[in-house]
Amino acid sequence: MITGKTKLYAILADPISHVRTPEVFNERFARDGSDAVLVPIHVAPEGLPAMLAALRVMKNLGGVIVTVPHKTAVVSLCDELGEAARIIGAVNAVRREDDGRLVGDNFDGTGFLAGLRLQGYEPAGRRVLLLGAGGAAAAIAFALASAGVAQLTIANRTRSKAEELVERLVKFVTACHIAAGDADPTGHDLVINTTSLGMKPDDPLPIDVTLLSPDMTVAEIIMKPETTPLLAAAKGKGCPVHYGRHMLDQQIRLMAKHIGATASSGD
Ligand SMILES: NC(=O)c1ccc[n+]([C@@H]2O[C@H](COP(=O)([O-])OP(=O)(O)OC[C@H]3O[C@@H](n4cnc5c(N)ncnc54)[C@H](OP(=O)(O)O)[C@@H]3O)[C@@H](O)[C@H]2O)c1
Repeated sequence: MITGKTKLYAILADPISHVRTPEVFNERFARDGSDAVLVPIHVAPEGLPAMLAALRVMKNLGGVIVTVPHKTAVVSLCDELGEAARIIGAVNAVRREDDGRLVGDNFDGTGFLAGLRLQGYEPAGRRVLLLGAGGAAAAIAFALASAGVAQLTIANRTRSKAEELVERLVKFVTACHIAAGDADPTGHDLVINTTSLGMKPDDPLPIDVTLLSPDMTVAEIIMKPETTPLLAAAKGKGCPVHYGRHMLDQQIRLMAKHIGATASSGD
């Protein structure tokens, strides 16, 4: 039941009909007995500045989730940014403070890291091969480098994008060896696929899986299918695997916390 006291949350996207965030959050609210609702808002890029201005004056708004194609444009429309959002240049959750200020941050990288740790894998001190140099890769690379991995190799189809990402990261993280490289897992402890390869059944594998050995952990961030051809091949080689859903589960938890959409326990 929506009442006069119901706290409002929203997700901004274009298109909007495919988003699952309202189901996820509203089920949580119902389970926790929270008087809150998250609604989908379909806003086109040209409407985004007006939308954010409207959010500022909505006194019963807790915050919004931001997704494609608005994650980059929202950066310059926030009043304050968290460190990850500032460095990555993308926002996926915005909190509205009581005075109307909008505070944006990005939880892709911290979500991946939290998922990994929750599954019992500590990345500090490890040698990591990151496949891909897109938006998710940038966030995960920053989170891993900040978490103290010993070495981070970034391999991407478009090599120049991997090099650009390395250039950006080394300005902020000095304690870890970061370089652009080949998609060769040899000499690495953890291989993470952040490319979109594996979503379609006829996609090629992102690495030569014959180079995998059982001491390497292989991680995906793709959620469907749960066991991508890469993870199936890694299992076949005796490697421990890490599923894409762990990142999303933790991202949702962290974004909910950021916008204040949590039960009294804070989770
Ligand atoms: N689990 C989660 O919570 C979560 C969160 C965010 C994203 N994701 C998933 O992560 C993946 C990437 O998302 P994104 O937002 O980072 O996308 P993005 O910014 O568009 O980056 C896509 C990456 O995939 C590479 N790529 C695409 N097609 C390729 C091909 N045919 N061969 C080799 N490389 C290819 C791109 O390489 P080029 O630079 O050469 O084009 C780029 O590195 C998607 O599958 C998305 O669903 C999962």
